[in-house]
Amino acid sequence: MTVGERRWLIAGNWKMHTTYEEALELAGAIQQRCRSLPDVEVVLIPPFPWIVPLAERLRGSAIALGAQTCSAYDQGAYTGEVSARMIAPFCQYVIVGHSERRRLFAETDEVVAAKLRAALRYGLRPILCVGEDLEEREAGATLHVIEHQLRLACEALSLAECKRIIIAYEPVWAIGTGRPATPADAQSVAEWIRRWFVLRFGELDEQLRILYGGSVTAENARGFFEVPDIDGALVGGASLDAAQFCGIVEATRSAKARLE
Ligand code: 13P
Repeated sequence: MTVGERRWLIAGNWKMHTTYEEALELAGAIQQRCRSLPDVEVVLIPPFPWIVPLAERLRGSAIALGAQTCSAYDQGAYTGEVSARMIAPFCQYVIVGHSERRRLFAETDEVVAAKLRAALRYGLRPILCVGEDLEEREAGATLHVIEHQLRLACEALSLAECKRIIIAYEPVWAIGTGRPATPADAQSVAEWIRRWFVLRFGELDEQLRILYGGSVTAENARGFFEVPDIDGALVGGASLDAAQFCGIVEATRSAKARLE
């Protein structure tokens, strides 16, 4: 078990990768390879069209499903949108505010906040992504950027709602670059995020799960899992390879080291 009874969470964000056949094969391989570790929650986050078939394929297994985004609206004339209400029967999680959505699809903090609330309305657990880009980091603005993102997304939430959220710290410069943050840097941001929530929501601190994302691999994951405020990983590229992804799941076992 991790610090403060927080359960590890390893989530694979497949982004816009895989054909239907590849998705079934990858999910099957992960299901076979990933030893079921009671302290670890494993979540696959495939493209929308594969969610329903994977939900059937994984029924009865310990692997959960998530969606990569959801609409801010519940239903209506919104061509191309997929609502939290549609996703909820098949998924437990949904990513909101991923930097690719913010940057490539012009999602503002206000839109991210509306999506977060939509996800909560339908009982999904939002994985809220925050993180600075390289220019912001070099300007020493990392915490300023993250504070802004957290405040606009979360300040109107109740304590009960906050308890359902997972935060993913994903520095934009580390995503898909093969240049992860150092575990020490990720820890200092995660610690700051936890403190930010404590100041606003008091008793939340020990329950809030904070993930690191950005070039996590089976080789470097252990370093992130040995620091006290990181409770798992949001994995992109390495989640498309069953051996890599399950290697990351296995790396949580080093967690014991941080309790001793
Ligand atoms: P990579 O693991 O490919 O860097 O992607 C991270 C990410 O964006 C997960 O959401």
